[in-house]
Amino acid sequence: MREVPRHLAVIMDGNGRWAARRRRPRVIGHRAGARTVNLCIDFCLERGIEALTLFAFSSENWGRPEDEVGALMRLFLAALDREVGELHRRGVRLRFIGERDRFGENLRQRMTAAEAVTAGNTALTLSVAASYGGRQDIAAATRAVAAEVASGRLRVEDIDETTVGAHMALADLPEPDLFIRTGGDLRISNFLLWQLAYTELWFTDTLWPELGVDELERALRSYASRERRFGLTGAQIAAGDGPLQESIR
Ligand code: FPP
Repeated sequence: MREVPRHLAVIMDGNGRWAARRRRPRVIGHRAGARTVNLCIDFCLERGIEALTLFAFSSENWGRPEDEVGALMRLFLAALDREVGELHRRGVRLRFIGERDRFGENLRQRMTAAEAVTAGNTALTLSVAASYGGRQDIAAATRAVAAEVASGRLRVEDIDETTVGAHMALADLPEPDLFIRTGGDLRISNFLLWQLAYTELWFTDTLWPELGVDELERALRSYASRERRFGLTGAQIAAGDGPLQESIR
């Protein structure tokens, strides 16, 4: 098994509580959280992690108070304006997954432009999940598969995990090796439901704005100490058998 994950997926939780503890509005917590995003990107670049996927805004987050949603949208816009040049310079390929149609025209244009500018970069693929939901992702893949059947390009009996997986978000990346959630809750919260099937999970009580390199190192050490068996036995893994060996390496 690789010591360092190829793909890290993160739920950045605890911004609101971080602000509340300081008696500040929640948006201040999100602003502080944006700084931790930069720290995390730096960490991945330094450690040779190939892909980083961040849960920035869930499909359910639209239900938050209007002022918080508005503040988050302004924060995303500002972050795009501020960071894309530097991300590009550092070889980061930026992309967005989720229901892009739900965002305003301004933000949609910035997202598409950022993806186009950074499309050829190879140092790190940074995927930002925005208005994303794992169930919605599976439903969209199901629709795409159904459309192929309806058009006669695919037979029902040929539908398997590979067919469905090919239509899921991030299908071109290795599946996440390590999942990190800050903020103390022990759940997946409708993040990458399909893609996390064999991912190693790591949770911390630390609130997202307070996450530091030491703790990221601790998560990587925990990951490196685990034996990933993908449903096989330890002996099979040691012998290098099995159909999933390619993903283990
Ligand atoms: C969860 O904390 C965090 C969010 C819903 C927003 C995440 C956004 C950022 C980290 C800002 C910048 C992001 C990018 C990609 C530029 P919470 O508000 O649910 O915290 P709580 O559980 O303490 O209330």
